[in-house]
Amino acid sequence: MTSPSRSRSWQKLASHYLNLHSAGTTISQLFNEDPQRFAHFSLRTDALFLDYSKNLLTAETRELLLDLARETGLPDAIKAMYRGDRINNTENRQVLHVALRTALPEADPAYNAAVAATLAKMEAFVTKVHSGDWRGYTGKSIATVINIGIGGSDLGPAMVTEALRHCHVPQLQTMFVSNVDPDHMRTALAGADPQSTLFIVASKTFSTLETRQNAALARRWYLENGGEEKQIARHFVAVSANVPKAQAFGIDPENIFPLWDWVGGRYSLWSAIGLPIALACGMQTFRELLHGASLMDTHFRDAPLDANMPVIMGLLAVWYCSFAGAGSQAILPYSQALHLFPAFLQQLEMESLGKSVDLEGEALRIDSGPIVWGSAGTNGQHSFHQLLHQGTHLIPADFIGIVHTQHPQDADQHAHLLANCFSQSQALMQGKSDEDALAELLAQGRDAASAQVLARHKRILGNKPSNTLLLEQLSATALGSLIALYEHQVFVESVIWHINAFDQWGVELGKQLGEKLYAALTDAAECAAFDGSTNGLINHCRDADERA
Ligand code: F6P
Repeated sequence: MTSPSRSRSWQKLASHYLNLHSAGTTISQLFNEDPQRFAHFSLRTDALFLDYSKNLLTAETRELLLDLARETGLPDAIKAMYRGDRINNTENRQVLHVALRTALPEADPAYNAAVAATLAKMEAFVTKVHSGDWRGYTGKSIATVINIGIGGSDLGPAMVTEALRHCHVPQLQTMFVSNVDPDHMRTALAGADPQSTLFIVASKTFSTLETRQNAALARRWYLENGGEEKQIARHFVAVSANVPKAQAFGIDPENIFPLWDWVGGRYSLWSAIGLPIALACGMQTFRELLHGASLMDTHFRDAPLDANMPVIMGLLAVWYCSFAGAGSQAILPYSQALHLFPAFLQQLEMESLGKSVDLEGEALRIDSGPIVWGSAGTNGQHSFHQLLHQGTHLIPADFIGIVHTQHPQDADQHAHLLANCFSQSQALMQGKSDEDALAELLAQGRDAASAQVLARHKRILGNKPSNTLLLEQLSATALGSLIALYEHQVFVESVIWHINAFDQWGVELGKQLGEKLYAALTDAAECAAFDGSTNGLINHCRDADERA
């Protein structure tokens, strides 16, 4: 099977969608037809609850989607990933982030041993830092940790560290610097004391421009502010798969935490890339995070397709993207602690699924991954939800709610948060009819003529689909499960669309051109080497002194 659009189930789904559409089927109507719809379209795992009843989806749609999953070989593809087949075909790599949290009897036992040894190394290090045995060059214990990394070496650990702020040890402040804009690093350094600051240089390749520049800046700052060259090992550790490069930068080999080519950057927070999480929250919490992911790994491998949460969510994403024409997906965590979750998912989903050729390099005849965006509720309600409710685009939304607040004393305020979470998905589904809008206006005393006109603006079409995911609490275990859920969902989509979710060749071109443009920008000569716009922009910056 190459293009999924040639499969029988794809053709059936296409005509099934047209039937639903032309019959004007609404989600509300599906609830009227089936009083048990909530029970029929919801799922539970050890740590998560998924309500997917507010989707434009009938039992027949689900069956057809499951047929598509079977026809495109999803069950075998799951086995192949867990077995360690080289499913990242363009880089000839295995994809075994699952092995970072779940023992895989079918994969190479050496990997399980490497993972256990790395966790033990992390644990020893975290213990030393927390106990104050790890000391800076003047004997002070570590008070500030600054993680220097970008993409997968930043977004995952930063998101989890932020989400689990309620688990932080009190003696450490943890910060993340990613942007090559020196402003980012300078802001982090502003309040830091070189005697008690530890830098983690996190880069799988150790060749990423941003991270190398920021690490060099941090090192200069350390040396210019009293730090001693011979004590640099006390202040700089690294996480990398490229030990020679990390050593060449000046990191003591003892302080290099390993990473392997069978772990993709955006799937790496479970490895030593998670060191800032472990330092901020403690090793026990980090292990709970791994445990939560492991629960989801087991579910994904063992649950039947029709009761498999990542499978159902992946199929829904395919349904909207490939059949209903939805170009984007909103991620709406109703949790301030999860405010970085949409940004994390942007890399996970868009770097994985933003492909226009299939596994064989043939042009895709279908749309691949949607644009992923969102922010924490309730804030989004006061900015972009207007477009969700009344705009012209179909945008499926994932709502994520936490049943119990981390602040029991504020349970009543938390109830407002949950009420808003649920009312938004309800409003998206139900909308507001012309009649209701008109009746409301007349009841407010409007005259009939102006009420008729205004009612057209107040009408909300509804029938906008959403999932609601609930976590009992924002525990490390539940968070681990949530992240692993989306990782596996992305895999499901990639299998259906027949694309490689584990390479990212598209980001290379910008990096290559950036090097050339840097040379031109730092050269005093007038630039004429590129296209007219690029030359003009470079010369505009070169002439800045003359304008000043
Ligand atoms: O942006 C491309 C990318 O390769 C990501 O996939 C990766 O997470 C990021 O750069 C950082 O890479 P590294 O960890 O090698 O510095």
